[in-house]
Amino acid sequence: MSHRVAITRRIPEPGPSLVAAVAGEVVANHDDRPLTRDELLSLVSGCDAVLCLLTDTIDSDVLDAAKGCKIVANMAVGYNNIDLAAATARGILVTNTPGVLTECTADLTWALILGVARRVAEGDVEMRAGRFPGWGPLYMLGGDVTGKTLGLIGPGRIATAVAMRARGFDMKILYHGRRSSPSLDAIGAEAVDLFRLLAESDFVSLHVPLTSETHHLIDAKALARMKPSSYLINTARGPVVDEKALVKILREGGIAGAGLDVYEDEPAMAPGLADCPNALLLPHLGSATQGTRAAMSRIAAENLVAVLSGCKPPNLLNPEVWRETT
Ligand code: GLV
Repeated sequence: MSHRVAITRRIPEPGPSLVAAVAGEVVANHDDRPLTRDELLSLVSGCDAVLCLLTDTIDSDVLDAAKGCKIVANMAVGYNNIDLAAATARGILVTNTPGVLTECTADLTWALILGVARRVAEGDVEMRAGRFPGWGPLYMLGGDVTGKTLGLIGPGRIATAVAMRARGFDMKILYHGRRSSPSLDAIGAEAVDLFRLLAESDFVSLHVPLTSETHHLIDAKALARMKPSSYLINTARGPVVDEKALVKILREGGIAGAGLDVYEDEPAMAPGLADCPNALLLPHLGSATQGTRAAMSRIAAENLVAVLSGCKPPNLLNPEVWRETT
């Protein structure tokens, strides 16, 4: 049977080749930009499968436009861009790309921890501006990292990979989540309630998916519980943090700093955030390494190809749909 497959944005190999090998027709956005809503609605129409990115909002209108579609394969581990319930109601399988971006996202979390505490970006700016006055005993002092307490919110794979690295920094590790984590417990991390984690951690690092429960989990109240000497790190999803409240507390010095890779309304930032010298700001680079993006492309394509070949995709998010269709 000849399949029509949509790829919503230019992505690295090997995904496109794997898809092309099974699809009769590939309709693709060859540009490195997200499609407009109208373009997306038109691209997916009449497709048997859609390979999409976290920059595409796949809601019921898009799913209706993709009538007859069997699978939406997201090239991301997070899938808050897809209305999973709406896809399930329409019998459309949804997959993501877990696992392959764990290590590089943990690496970037550590880049933010070290970067914000040791003022790495600020120091670089000083050097380039020719403002380095020479070594000074009080010059550009930052926060300590080694031996401090790391609080991980969300007990999943990425949090565990961040914790493994923290052992090398001799840190005490606290974590909070809806379930306990045998792998975090095994490395000596202590499960605590959110209140205690916020109050005791020197670094609070977010590793939860974005859901209605985690939206603004870190609001003004939560931020106020953090120590004035502590740092907030976010490599998860922007809306987990109330960004306006974060700007306010950063300005007031209520916490020492924030290392952010994600924002509430990407690619925009809350007014004032860019003017906070105690914020280290990265443009959503968690999975942005050549190897990881290639692996994400491969896994998204493999999920899609599995379904077009009549097989259960390895990273199925709504298995109840699979049971219904088989
Ligand atoms: C990246 O943010 C992802 O969810 O894959």
